[in-house]
Amino acid sequence: MSTLSFDLETVIDTLADKGWVVIPHALSGEITANLRAACLDVWQQGLFHEAATGRGDGQARRSEIRADSVLWLDKVAALPAVQAYNAAMDDIMHGVNRGLYLGLAELESHFAVYPEGAFYKKHLDRFKDDDARTLTTVFYLNEGWPQDAGGQIRLYLDADCHEFIDVEPEAGTLVLFLSDRFWHEVLPARQQRLSVTGWYRRRGGSVPW
Ligand code: OGA
Ligand code: MN
Repeated sequence: MSTLSFDLETVIDTLADKGWVVIPHALSGEITANLRAACLDVWQQGLFHEAATGRGDGQARRSEIRADSVLWLDKVAALPAVQAYNAAMDDIMHGVNRGLYLGLAELESHFAVYPEGAFYKKHLDRFKDDDARTLTTVFYLNEGWPQDAGGQIRLYLDADCHEFIDVEPEAGTLVLFLSDRFWHEVLPARQQRLSVTGWYRRRGGSVPW
């Protein structure tokens, strides 16, 4: 049985048409709640590290650009909640490959915690020296995120960044967009903000660790 709570074909059509899609209630409430609990658990165990920008020699902690902390899911792949998430993301990958011929081969993803006040300035997700990241996925884990708590992802819809949408990081919402095409940022969060961010990679790219 599919783990997805939405119509994959509709999502693929939207992606093919626009290059981005926002899916509320993308996974079951149970998977989402379990993933949230797992994220908080490993956060409290102190397993996260402060996020860096760039990769390889160009990698650096630049808190004026981003102020979140992350934990790569391959470090906690045995957790049932992470396995359920990976199974769902696998279904999406196969559907997208059937519909869009992107040749996606694998997903790399991490939990991210934005402490109160944290943000991530406007950026593109593709590294200068590695073009394997193809489709960005962000899945939010915040039950009842308040309207006035900031923390939205601002996704710019055109290359000049004139037009944008803001998406609340509400639990269950999944955002997908082409990694090399869409500038985006995370507006300052006024309270702790949890998510799983990932990138589907095409075959042939090197892994950044
Ligand atoms: C990222 C990112 C967006 C979000 O980690 O590269 O842009 O909403 N995250 O968390
Ligand atoms: Mn990003």
